[in-house]
Amino acid sequence: MQSFRVLSSRERNLHILIIEYFLMDVFEEFREKMHITRKWIYLNHAAIGPLPTDTFIELSEGIMEKTLHGAANIDLNAIDEKYVKMQKIGRKILGTTREETIFFPQYTQLGMLPILDGLDFKSGGNVVITDMEFTQNSFPFQVFARKTHRELKVIRSIDGKIPWENFEKAIDDETRVVGLSHVQFANGFKTDLRAVAALCHDHGAFLLVDAIQSLGTLNFRAHDWDVDAVVAGGYKWLLGPFNTGIGYIAPHHLDKIDPTMAGWMTDQDYLNMTHHPYNPVFGAKRLQGHINPSLFTLYSSIKLLTNVGLRDIETKIRSLTNHIVKRAEEMELKVASPREAHERGAIVKVDIDNAEMGVKFLKSHNVSVSLRNGGIRLAPHAYNTLEEIDKTMDLIGEFLRIKK
Ligand SMILES: Cc1ncc(COP(=O)(O)O)c(C=O)c1O
Repeated sequence: MQSFRVLSSRERNLHILIIEYFLMDVFEEFREKMHITRKWIYLNHAAIGPLPTDTFIELSEGIMEKTLHGAANIDLNAIDEKYVKMQKIGRKILGTTREETIFFPQYTQLGMLPILDGLDFKSGGNVVITDMEFTQNSFPFQVFARKTHRELKVIRSIDGKIPWENFEKAIDDETRVVGLSHVQFANGFKTDLRAVAALCHDHGAFLLVDAIQSLGTLNFRAHDWDVDAVVAGGYKWLLGPFNTGIGYIAPHHLDKIDPTMAGWMTDQDYLNMTHHPYNPVFGAKRLQGHINPSLFTLYSSIKLLTNVGLRDIETKIRSLTNHIVKRAEEMELKVASPREAHERGAIVKVDIDNAEMGVKFLKSHNVSVSLRNGGIRLAPHAYNTLEEIDKTMDLIGEFLRIKK
C-alpha cells in the first residue's frame, strides 16, 4: 500500500505558489470576460453577479431573435436536446454524474416550491429552518408548515454561527423537512452539508438546500454529501441572467416526485397539445413547470465557471477572503464572519461605525459592496484580485480616518 508523507508548511506554501503561478492565466482569461472590471472593483456577488461577455452576447441574441422573428424560427423538437445539454453541464456545478437529477427553475424559490409540494411527506411532525436564513428561504417553509399543520422549529444561531448541538437538538424523528442555506447570505457562515444530511437521514428527514450563495464558488458535491435536493438562482455567483436557476434532486426521489406545477413541456407527449392524460417525463425535469429559451442562457456562464474549474475557483476565493480577514484584523475591525475558512463561504462581513456611509464612500470610489445588518458585506469572485482587496481595505481605512 502506498503511504503519504504530510507536507511541511514550507512545502505547502511552495505548492500553493506553484499552483497560483500556473493558474494565473486562467484567472486572467476569466477576468477578461468580465466587462464589469473595467469600471468597478466588484465585490458584490452575494447580491448580483455581473454577466460575462459570452452570456451577454447569447442573451442579446435571444432578445434580437424574439424582437425580429418571434416564434418563426423556433424548433420545438430541439428543446429536448438543449435541455439535456444544459443538464450535462449543470451536473458539473452540482457534483453528480446523473444528468436526470438536474432541472432549471427560474429562481431559487421556484425550485423549492414544487419539491415541497411534489413529495408525499408523512403527515404531521415538524419542519426545521434556522434563524440565519434569508427571508426567501424562510417564508416558504413557514407557510408550508402552517398549511400542512406541522410544527415549525427555528434553530438559533450564536455569534453568527449555528452550533452543531443546536442542529442535533432541533432535528428529531418527527422532522419531515429541513430547509437550510449552504452559505448564509449575511455573513457567509457555511454549514457542513454532509454532516447535516447524515443527521437528517438518521431521523428520516429530507434536506432541502438553498445553495444560491455557494454554487459557483466551490466544489459542490451533491451526490457525495448525500443531500436530498438543492436549489439556486443563477443570477449571483453563477454569473447568469435574471430568471435563471438550477436545481438537483437525489436519484432515489426521482420516481416519487409529483408536483402540481405540471407544465406542458414536461409531458412525455409534449407536442400533442390537445387534451390527454398528463404523463410526466422521468427525472428532475418534471419539476420544471415552464421552459423558455431564456433558461438556456445560463449555459455560457456555467461553461465559463466549469472551464476555470470549481476547485481552483474555491482556492482562489479562499485566498481573497482570507486576505480580507487578515487585513481587517490588522486594521482592528470587527469581522462578523467565521474566522475559520472551512466555516466560511465567499462572503466576509466587516462591521464598522457608519457602515451605510462607508458603503456610499466605497461606491464613490467605484467599489461595489453591500450593507448588511450594520456592516459591510464583501463578496469577491475568483476573477477579483488581491490588489482589489487591498485597495478596498485601504479605502475603508481612509473612510474611518475621515469620519473620526
Ligand atoms: C440565501 C438566499 N436565498 C434566496 C435568495 C433569492 O431567492 P430567489 O432566487 O428566489 O429570488 C437570496 C437572495 O439574496 C439568498 O441570499
